[in-house]
Amino acid sequence: MKITILTGAGVSAESGLGTFRDKGGVWTKYDLQEVATPQGFARDPEKVIDFYNMRRKNARGAKPNAAHFALARLQAEFRGEVELITQNVDSLHEAAGSTALHMHGAHGRARCMSCHAKWDAPLVMAVDDPCPTCGEATTRPDVVWFGETPHYLPEIATHLASADLFVAIGTSGTVYPAAGFVAEARGRGARTLEINLEPSNFADLFDDVILGPASETVPQWVDTLL
Ligand code: APR
Repeated sequence: MKITILTGAGVSAESGLGTFRDKGGVWTKYDLQEVATPQGFARDPEKVIDFYNMRRKNARGAKPNAAHFALARLQAEFRGEVELITQNVDSLHEAAGSTALHMHGAHGRARCMSCHAKWDAPLVMAVDDPCPTCGEATTRPDVVWFGETPHYLPEIATHLASADLFVAIGTSGTVYPAAGFVAEARGRGARTLEINLEPSNFADLFDDVILGPASETVPQWVDTLL
């Protein structure tokens, strides 16, 4: 049996990292056009770099919660295959011991727009940081902005097509292509499960739903599988 799991900001909420669209969420405080688009970066790179410096600093002391640990246990102990895809740019799945495909990148990584090298970002990036490989001052956080193509789409398509069970955890189902994964997996024959605080935008595409805080619901669900 193969389980393909998509996580969103809700899985990290109880680690103290804010979500995007809930009350007080990141996009209620910042204009995403200004800080999370290539156009915003072209207009004011310092503002964008500062935004990710702030988020990187906020995430520095964050610890994985019971949901991250349960998913790591599932990956390690489940008799079938468990593929984890995350929209999150934090590193809490890895801190808990999971391997995850970061489709929206990672704010702990930097990349060069000239030579495409990638490296661990310093805690505070600067607009004129030189690339450690080619020396050009064309560096940016390795995050995927609105209007850009997410990472790992071919691998993800394979994991959706071959899943027996697709599970979405802590995501509102607002941002494509991730929002379309449930329809894709379902169309290829997977059973679908939503685990979220409240029903997402695509609640009717899920066969089953478990509502509640991820730190409680995810460990309980994992216990039923192991
Ligand atoms: N447990 C489970 N779910 C929770 C919890 C919790 N403790 N707290 C919040 N949630 C749910 C919310 O109900 C909501 O459905 O998590 C979801 C968070 O939704 P968003 O804030 O929209 O986050 P996400 O779906 O991950 O956003 C997708 O949008 O801007 C981008 O690139 C960013 O990757 C992000 C993408």
